[in-house]
Amino acid sequence: MTGPESSDALVLFGASGDLAHRMIFPALYALAARDRLPGRVIGVAKEDWTLPVLSDRVADALRGAGIDADPAVMKRLTDRLGWVGGEYRDGATFDRLRSALGTARHPLHYLAIPPSLFPDVVGRLGQSGCAAGARVVVEKPFGRDLASAQALNRALHAVFDEAAIFRIDHYLGKEPVQNLLYFRFANAFLEPLWNRTHVRSVQITMAESFGVAGRGRFYDEVGAIRDVVQNHLLQVVAILAMECPVSPDATHLRDEKVKVFNAIRPLRATELVRGQFAGYREEPGVAPDSDVETFAAMKLHVDSWRWQGVPFLVRAGKRLPVTATEVFVELHAPPRDLFAEGRAKTPNHLRFRLGPDVSIALGTRAKAPGEAMRGEDVELTIAHRRKGEMSAYERLIGDALHGDPTLFSRQDSAEAQWRIVDPALGLEAPVLPYDPGSWGPASARALAAAVGGWRDPAAVGEATP
Ligand code: BG6
Repeated sequence: MTGPESSDALVLFGASGDLAHRMIFPALYALAARDRLPGRVIGVAKEDWTLPVLSDRVADALRGAGIDADPAVMKRLTDRLGWVGGEYRDGATFDRLRSALGTARHPLHYLAIPPSLFPDVVGRLGQSGCAAGARVVVEKPFGRDLASAQALNRALHAVFDEAAIFRIDHYLGKEPVQNLLYFRFANAFLEPLWNRTHVRSVQITMAESFGVAGRGRFYDEVGAIRDVVQNHLLQVVAILAMECPVSPDATHLRDEKVKVFNAIRPLRATELVRGQFAGYREEPGVAPDSDVETFAAMKLHVDSWRWQGVPFLVRAGKRLPVTATEVFVELHAPPRDLFAEGRAKTPNHLRFRLGPDVSIALGTRAKAPGEAMRGEDVELTIAHRRKGEMSAYERLIGDALHGDPTLFSRQDSAEAQWRIVDPALGLEAPVLPYDPGSWGPASARALAAAVGGWRDPAAVGEATP
């Protein structure tokens, strides 16, 4: 059997927007460099742009991303570009798009636009004939809660089959996140340890030292839980907690992840701390009385045979002391303190650094040189970031063009992820202020107190604490 047909055109809705500029254009350039672009790349937006304006915008995006563009690759990309300007709510825009698609039979429509526009755009793609034989990529946030995600799924399914819908979560395209899955299931030594008998707790920290970086209007409608927990960090939890899939193909892999999501208890306001950094309400685009969280810390429970009783502690925030995303899997202490040293400062652990630098490390105790039987904490570094890594967007757009859904969220998964955070979205947990540069509101500490506190990731280049 042959695989699915590759897309023969890419249509980028939101081509004048920030996401296209920061992420998608550099990814398209990288795909052009590997000669993986389809015949046509058509930008759509309401602006009255011309092709040269679009080409300039692409060139500007590459400069912004620090890419020293090769003129031959640039030509390969710009030769394919097309432009359709017009309102997303106007049927004529879609008629023009239909003509611009020419003989393309399997376009990929990438909706890099506000989610409120998805139903309209998808409906008009259907009415205009642009959806026939097509695929659609939808950006996050996929809805605002379970009910809106279900409504969005209904709107998408009215026009596209599930197999043609690609819900993007760029974390799944990241090399270190893929390595998490690979490392777990390509090594046998981990398996005997990877359960409630040996693991005391699992912590995931996604810390960003920057604030909302000019995205105040977007962020103030979303907040940390919807922005990164419901999607990125729950996907990381699923990869850490899942059973080995029957095969790495899309169906088996996604089946196992959904089982984890279904095993996670809905989040309770009492196990959630929401914070907002001082000064957030003065950011452009943010409401002066906003109670949107820029920090969230929570305790999750995975009610499975393997993980019963092991807390999964997850936190994410803006304006924290460092920019680093890390998974810290704490192993139980030895049953006896044979050398009478007291509890080790850093317990035995596995540490997966997911960004901005990438590593996997095993934390152990080893004897410090000298007369006494005294130890020191030693981390064995198992892997380090290698150069030449593909960006998440390059990988994911390439996969969508080839119809490979493995790294995209399936309907049941997207809804199960909302089901976990949904009860906590009602703002019952008050939003507490915190100082920029701190680790969030003091009360977040209590969530991790029973397992010896949060393990703060180090800044790039600093030694691990
Ligand atoms: C995005 C969020 O999805 O992920 C941002 O909207 C966040 O708020 C970003 O900063 C982090 O992704 P990365 O790949 O830069 O770690």
